[in-house]
Amino acid sequence: MKSEFIEISDELFLQVGKMITEKYGIKMPPEKKIMFQARLQRRLHELDIHSFDEYAKILLNDSCSAGEFNQLADLISTNKTEFFRENEHFTFLNSIILPEFIKVKTPSLSSQLKIWSAGCSSGQEAYSIGIQIEEFLRTSGQRFDYSILATDISARMLRQAREAIYPFAQVDELSAEIKQRYFLKSKDVRTMKVRIIKEIRDKVTVGYMNLMEDLYPFQAQFDVVFIRNTLIYFDRANQLKVLKQVLNSLKPGGFLLIGHSESLINLQLPIQSVAPSIYVKTNV
Ligand SMILES: C[S@@+](CC[C@H](N)C(=O)[O-])C[C@H]1O[C@@H](n2cnc3c(N)ncnc32)[C@H](O)[C@@H]1O
Repeated sequence: MKSEFIEISDELFLQVGKMITEKYGIKMPPEKKIMFQARLQRRLHELDIHSFDEYAKILLNDSCSAGEFNQLADLISTNKTEFFRENEHFTFLNSIILPEFIKVKTPSLSSQLKIWSAGCSSGQEAYSIGIQIEEFLRTSGQRFDYSILATDISARMLRQAREAIYPFAQVDELSAEIKQRYFLKSKDVRTMKVRIIKEIRDKVTVGYMNLMEDLYPFQAQFDVVFIRNTLIYFDRANQLKVLKQVLNSLKPGGFLLIGHSESLINLQLPIQSVAPSIYVKTNV
């Protein structure tokens, strides 16, 4: 199908791609040109401009607004996610990480388990973590406080994560008990939506954060970081840069979880593998 917009020149695509990789880490090799144009058509429509070169020049101009970069981040990011995606990680959380936390911490009111969902998309990962922790507390009879930070660069995804409202189809596969305990059904059955219960929403803080920033905007030291299916879109150098930073925010002995199809082979990092795609930060 022929696009109604004039194609971007190879030279400008190269420049915009370089800028995107420097700013967000996301790779933009020449093969992605078609996809880039397909995703940005809507924005050109909104701006009433007719050539990708014109749009590229707006992005490359020093005075390009933060608002335009937010639009760009929404459109170039890949946001696929689901509840309990890569379920082995949640089994590991339940059977190893949470019992270990209790053993080491002797939980008291002052010891809070801190978890970060980095590249959280629309929030299903963070809420699955919350549900898993609540299930652990319920079945083990233990008590401890916890908090989950969920961050992303896409304002559109962050809005959805904050709302915590999802189409019913997304929770179809979850057990009836989990749905009943942790999801509210919309009163209007025609809308077929569910919402995470307030008790879990209150545990999750959703915020904008670009993993490529040199200084992370928090002092927190996390016990567990989920950074799954996010760095897969980055080149090796940026993966290394981001992981070093992320590990600075993880406590020694804390757990790092990456996506099943991601690899940390040959990256010199202070971590030790403990299970497929799960690492512990070593003491260096
Ligand atoms: C495919 S989703 C992964 C969602 C979830 N972690 C999972 O595994 O289901 C990747 C997310 O990473 C986000 N992302 C991409 N580049 C980022 C960056 N530089 N900083 C923070 N988030 C980023 C995207 O916006 C997207 O929502």
